[in-house]
Amino acid sequence: MRDAAPETIYLSDYSPFGFVVDEVTLTFDLHPENTRVKSRTAFRPNPAATDRTFFLHGENLKLINASIDGTPVAPDVSDKGLTCDVPDGPFIWESEVEIDPQGNTALEGLYMSNGMYCTQCEAEGFRKITYYPDRPDVMSVFTVIINGPHPVLLSNGNPVASSEGHAEWHDPWPKPAYLFALVAGELIAHADTFTTASGRKVDLNLYVRPGDEGKCAFGMQALKDSMKWDEEVYGRKYDLDLFNIVAVDDFNMGAMENKGLNIFNSSAVLASPETSTDMNFERIEAIIAHEYFHNWTGNRITCRDWFQLCLKEGLTVYRDSQFTSDMRSAAVKRIGDVIDLRGRQFAEDQGPLAHPVRPESFQEINNFYTATVYEKGAEVIGMLKRLVGDDAYATALDLYFERHDGDAATIEDWLKVFEDTTGRDLTQFKRWYSQAGTPRLKVIEDWADDTLTLTFTQHTPPSAATPEPQPLVIPISVGLIGPIGDEVAETRVLEMTEASQSFTFDGLAARPVASILRGFSAPVVLDHDLNDTERALLLAHDTDPFNRWEAGRTLARKSLLSMIREGTAPDRAYLDGILAVLRDETLDPAYRALMMGLPSQSDLATALHDAGEVPEPDLIYAATETMRAAMARRFRDVLPALYADNLVTAEYRPDAEQSGKRALANSALALITRTDGGVQAQAQYGAADNMTQQLSGLANLIRADRGSAALKAFEAQWKNDRLVMDKWFGLQVIEADPEDAADVAAALTDHPDFNWKNPNRFRAVFGSLVMHHAGFHHHSGKGYQLLADWLIKLDPVNPQTTARMCSAFQSWPRYDDDRKALITAELDRILAQPTLSRDVTEMLTRIRK
Ligand code: ARG
Ligand code: ZN
Repeated sequence: MRDAAPETIYLSDYSPFGFVVDEVTLTFDLHPENTRVKSRTAFRPNPAATDRTFFLHGENLKLINASIDGTPVAPDVSDKGLTCDVPDGPFIWESEVEIDPQGNTALEGLYMSNGMYCTQCEAEGFRKITYYPDRPDVMSVFTVIINGPHPVLLSNGNPVASSEGHAEWHDPWPKPAYLFALVAGELIAHADTFTTASGRKVDLNLYVRPGDEGKCAFGMQALKDSMKWDEEVYGRKYDLDLFNIVAVDDFNMGAMENKGLNIFNSSAVLASPETSTDMNFERIEAIIAHEYFHNWTGNRITCRDWFQLCLKEGLTVYRDSQFTSDMRSAAVKRIGDVIDLRGRQFAEDQGPLAHPVRPESFQEINNFYTATVYEKGAEVIGMLKRLVGDDAYATALDLYFERHDGDAATIEDWLKVFEDTTGRDLTQFKRWYSQAGTPRLKVIEDWADDTLTLTFTQHTPPSAATPEPQPLVIPISVGLIGPIGDEVAETRVLEMTEASQSFTFDGLAARPVASILRGFSAPVVLDHDLNDTERALLLAHDTDPFNRWEAGRTLARKSLLSMIREGTAPDRAYLDGILAVLRDETLDPAYRALMMGLPSQSDLATALHDAGEVPEPDLIYAATETMRAAMARRFRDVLPALYADNLVTAEYRPDAEQSGKRALANSALALITRTDGGVQAQAQYGAADNMTQQLSGLANLIRADRGSAALKAFEAQWKNDRLVMDKWFGLQVIEADPEDAADVAAALTDHPDFNWKNPNRFRAVFGSLVMHHAGFHHHSGKGYQLLADWLIKLDPVNPQTTARMCSAFQSWPRYDDDRKALITAELDRILAQPTLSRDVTEMLTRIRK
């Protein structure tokens, strides 16, 4: 039975643990169903704490014995942990427990994946391994002894001893339990080395299952690039002689930064040209960088408590986005990040799950690994850097690393280094961490006496999480474009602090067009009432690549909205403007490919909801289709050349240059397919020697209604490759017609390879269904019902992945009454399950409000 009332944890209740742990030794005797874990932990009273309650977390553990200073004790055990009377001074706690890795389908703690042992302890999984103060502010030096009949036995830090069936590891860096990791199995190492700037030679290994050796080279290079970048840009060197990465097929998230032993979802590390798309390569490079960067922002400086999650995640996402910008194209990276932010974070911030970047309460912390904590958390750091400037940012970061190395820190600590190095008062800025909701920024222009006055008004809609939002500090990057397209004022960062505030630009010869929020300088919804001619001018001439793209996107959105509302024809000015961009060969192909994109259907639904209207998914779908057909006609003359000129014939490389060209060629192909019935797509599919080209060929064949032969061939070719088969499962749902999407998904669940307990496979089908806006929201409700059936089935097996998928329902309040009734009936059906996890209970209760 689920708890009558799951416990709510509050930030304001924080108090330090009563004891300090100086060191801990763990001994594992591995066995699939009954692994024995012995722990020997040295505790002493914490001088900084007043409460001396000795409570150790522990869940799903069978306690075999326990002792203090060698004397057996009988602790008070509950399903959450244990308490025990302890001496006043330092003491040694020893215990032995039994756990069942094979039966651990939740993939949290120690579990098995394809016969190999692995762990996932963040956030609170260590308590499923042994009794311990499983909280990030308790840091200790770990020694780990592993006994098991496996050729590879790994843990954190440095190997200190090993013989057949036995290994001993020592990690000299004190760490919280969530960074503990253990891996055992039959694994192959792809090995390399990296020499740090101070001459330390670091052994690097990427461990994979036999058969995956050919998918390691790219990840290894990405790791070396990341190590070098962090030395050059942040002055951060690696601090052990060994860095291991392990690829695991069954994993709830992308990857995990365990000290010296990162564990990755195989989809986030394994790559080869034949099996991975350009987008996969870019994502893998970013995730490897992200986890590596955590070594300093997360591990050396960790979080005091889980409310501070954004301290490590926001900063590390920000750092990995800087890395990708440096490795590839900064403009393309920024636009991609904003598309993602609007699609995921804005949706969250404007619905029932809205929460601040630093939440103030939770029931299940795993439910707060969100776009708000990660992506908005990164935006907040970008704004801070914009406000203080690059040099001051670098100085503040140096102080952060110097002052807090070895600490479990807070957002207050983080902001204090900026206050101390810049002399700024960041009290108001801190609201970005404490207030939920996406701010609306309205600008009104006034032109008189050669002076342009911009008057901004900010308003954050109240939410349950933040009923009375206060004005924020908003960095607004503005430049001015003259009437003939020349830049008459370079980018200047306006610092808005009031609810309403004016800024002037004087000495202007003629009225310019203001390019506002350049580079998307703050995560807000901008309301700038330009006319179409002014937007077309920005689309043609803005020197800020983000705002140039944004001008096109805004024209597209406006046109689509009036097509949806009034059935108007696609806007000529938009199509002409994009055509001119496509013809401009001085522009990066990747950038031109982005220019061919449209706002997502779910973004259009949000825009309609914002305007006080009720979105109709079928109309949104139809308008998008009409727009694409119009694009295919309007661009007809340039499409064949765009396709042919950007087809890469050189040997495949996953770099920015080649992948940008393929992106443009494939954007052209998608439009060509609308008029040639799939001829070109068939040719591309047949000739493809890499997954980017093969998958795009296949997608277009499905769209042209001639995909069945290729789908069969693809399945036959790739049936033994799990990661490629995930694409095969997902693509069929994504490319289905709206009325078929749920049926296609349902049919795929009958496929013998639909291993629903594998999170990647489950997400391939259901994540795709949810992304298919018109398919998921089909008026029959069959999309809702299918998802609810499977969430009910998955929850007892894997609550974490189930709970994440529940967010598909977060947008329910914006739809029509029929759909609202259908969705809430499914939510209530799930909530009525007699044994529902705490994870799903919390998510659905929040969504249902
Ligand atoms: N710290 C990991 C990362 O972002 C994510 C781990 C999330 N795990 C979880 N159970 N919520 O790099
Ligand atoms: Zn992270």
